[in-house]
Amino acid sequence: MIISSPTDYRKAAKAKLPPFLFHYIDGGSYSERTLKQNVEDLESIALKQRVLNDMSTLDLSTELFGEKLDLPMVLAPVGLTGMYARRGEVQAAKAADKKGIPFTMSTVSVCPIEEVTPAINRPMWFQLYVLKDRGFMQNVLERAKEAGVTTLVFTVDMPIPGARYRDMHSGMSGNNAAFRRIFQSMRHPQWAFDVGLLGKPHDLGNISTYRGSPTKLEDYIGWLGNNFDPSISWKDLEWIRDFWDGPMIIKGILDADDAKDAVSFGADGIVISNHGGRQLDGVMSSAKALPRIADKVKGDIKILADSGIRNGLDVIRMLALGADCTMLGRSFIYALAAEGQKGVENLIDLYEKEMRVAMTLTSTKSISDISRDSLVDTFG
Ligand SMILES: Cc1cc2nc3c(=O)[nH]c(=O)nc-3n(C[C@H](O)[C@H](O)[C@H](O)COP(=O)(O)O)c2cc1C
Repeated sequence: MIISSPTDYRKAAKAKLPPFLFHYIDGGSYSERTLKQNVEDLESIALKQRVLNDMSTLDLSTELFGEKLDLPMVLAPVGLTGMYARRGEVQAAKAADKKGIPFTMSTVSVCPIEEVTPAINRPMWFQLYVLKDRGFMQNVLERAKEAGVTTLVFTVDMPIPGARYRDMHSGMSGNNAAFRRIFQSMRHPQWAFDVGLLGKPHDLGNISTYRGSPTKLEDYIGWLGNNFDPSISWKDLEWIRDFWDGPMIIKGILDADDAKDAVSFGADGIVISNHGGRQLDGVMSSAKALPRIADKVKGDIKILADSGIRNGLDVIRMLALGADCTMLGRSFIYALAAEGQKGVENLIDLYEKEMRVAMTLTSTKSISDISRDSLVDTFG
């Protein structure tokens, strides 16, 4: 299959993966309204073309928490990444490392922290969920510190999992799920051999290291479902703040008052995110939430944004709406599933090329030049 644009990777991933995995990545919650809105709202934002300003030199790099990023992008935490490509977390982290951007490991990754950090040169970011098992949280934070993780991304928009009806249809969950997954895997022999067989163990590496026993996919769904903690409040974050001395980012903010609370709490950053439309369907898109939040907290805290970014122009749009940096979710996962590390590297190159064209034709020479002035209009 010919890959010429970042969005081509979605099709390529669909061809490669058993349906239960493709739809787990691709789907959102309930009727998937927010999932679609994330993409449509971003796409609808018109960039302002400006010309004849000698754009021969561009600087796409930025700095976050004392760390230099060659591009204003971070690979977002994505659970089960090692199911989409063989030891997928290692491959994605290596690609990010090569392209000069951070990789964020999900709590529920297949590879444990200790497998990924020795494979890369730059510090890894680590994402933590609020879980009832506080012993696990402490254990994993200690291990992250020891492994040289610098930045903690604390995800707060999953106190309870949203229902993903697509997963029930596809065989990820629901009736006869285990049987359907085996059947689908047999029909995707390349994946079955490369990831299903050679990619073992299919543990949740961080959790099985803590529990001392292997964790299967069924356990993943069960363990996670039972362990999300709806009682979480800002107070619970205090012990993490005390425990973690590096930068701490709160992921899953959509409201300006919550953003202000994150500033008061002393967080170093926030991610404007609705979890890629996988949690509460019907909430506002990140693109729409972002300018309202930036109006209140820009400059007081670093603002990252994700949900709906599918190409380099979307990155520029998020920056123009007020983000300091962006996170890629599905976009890099499709590339990883399709072509492994090489696919993610190529994807990042494609993003960079698109960003260069956008910066040239909006007459913005550096990331800090990109502002609302780079847009024709924003949402009211
Ligand atoms: C398959 C999948 C698994 C995810 N797992 C996690 C996770 O473990 N932790 C987390 O904070 N966010 C998780 N997310 C959300 C992403 O970090 C990110 O917010 C989202 O993908 C951004 O939306 P986009 O995919 O439309 O770009 C996941 C997203 C997907 C698609």
